[in-house]
Amino acid sequence: MSSTRKAAAAAATALPDGPRPRPGGDGAGSSGTYSVLDFLTDGENDAAGRQLVQLFSGYLYTPVAVAIVELGILGRLAGKALTPEDIAKDAGTDPDATGRLLRAGMAVGLLSGDEDGRFRLSAAGERLGPDAGRLGEMAVLWLEPIREAMVGLAEHVRSGQQVDPAAPGGFWDYLGSHPGEAVKFARAMGYATSRLPAALDAAGYRPPAASRVVDVGGNRGTMLAWLLKALPDAAGVIFDRAEAMATAPDFLGAAGVQHRTELVPGSFFNEVPEGDLHLLSRVLHNWDDKSVRRIVANCAKAGSRGGSLVVVEYVLPAVPEPAAGHLMDVMMMVLYGGRERTLEQHRALIEPCGYALREEYPVGAVDGGQPPLRVLEFVRT
Ligand SMILES: C[S@@+](CC[C@H](N)C(=O)[O-])C[C@H]1O[C@@H](n2cnc3c(N)ncnc32)[C@H](O)[C@@H]1O
Repeated sequence: MSSTRKAAAAAATALPDGPRPRPGGDGAGSSGTYSVLDFLTDGENDAAGRQLVQLFSGYLYTPVAVAIVELGILGRLAGKALTPEDIAKDAGTDPDATGRLLRAGMAVGLLSGDEDGRFRLSAAGERLGPDAGRLGEMAVLWLEPIREAMVGLAEHVRSGQQVDPAAPGGFWDYLGSHPGEAVKFARAMGYATSRLPAALDAAGYRPPAASRVVDVGGNRGTMLAWLLKALPDAAGVIFDRAEAMATAPDFLGAAGVQHRTELVPGSFFNEVPEGDLHLLSRVLHNWDDKSVRRIVANCAKAGSRGGSLVVVEYVLPAVPEPAAGHLMDVMMMVLYGGRERTLEQHRALIEPCGYALREEYPVGAVDGGQPPLRVLEFVRT
């Protein structure tokens, strides 16, 4: 047995129940006691072994973190130390199971425990907590259809079965009949997209001139709000499914552009509101090629000659490399029957609908890495 595992076993014997004291222990693996690296035998504990353990412990880490977020435990522990019984009483949960979840929360580094049986937030837990940051918005993306779709990845690859997200019972239907889940999805989307405006500013991107901007599949209008600030005389439209726009009034109000924005419910497979700038931000990757042609053709029909179509996507590198887009691609495949595409694949679908590529901007690089996203600006011909 490795020395780390011996230490863990000794600690477990000394304190079978309740949180274990962890001097300075503020994150998974910081003292080694709870590290999933304990799964590794001595000969396997090298860089490749640690990478593999991390890959295969996601199924434990993610649900524990999501349960802690979903049960409001982070909010209850903000600035306080509480026992499992305190939390269970307040949250209406089972005290024994709550204690076990809290101890697992220590193992993933979100919580720390005191010797008197109380738990508090670790530094990472505070970052995730409701008052400190917004990263917790991503946790709510762990929705049932997404969980199920991702678990079925191997079977999906085996069968090559094509998912139709617009079919009854598909993902968008699910959100339509679960308004609470649609709000969670909108929050996670909003968070995921909210880094983009700052990245666009940093990249020096200026949107093309326009008087009426239509954010097609715009959700709460994260990108529209930024465009309207850059185009102070323009009016805006969010066009989306009704349930997807539930959080838009608050968001647009906070951004100070609500008075210039109209919310139009509808489906982009039927028609799209008229405008001289149509925006498709992270929409096309949700759909197969045939559906993309229909969406873009409806934008072209609603756009004036010389007007613009701005597409934001994880444009795949022409030669495969370790890019975030390839991970998004498998999620698009199993959840929506959609896909990420290369620049040339985008052009081949969009240009025959009445557009020509004007410019391409890479955005969103962190620490000198590859920019994950691209803005593709097309002109209506
Ligand atoms: C991945 S989200 C992107 C949201 C937003 N554009 C962004 O960048 O944050 C895709 C959006 O497409 C919308 N959508 C799905 N089907 C639609 C349809 N048939 N007509 C209009 N919008 C639709 C969804 O409701 C959702 O808001």
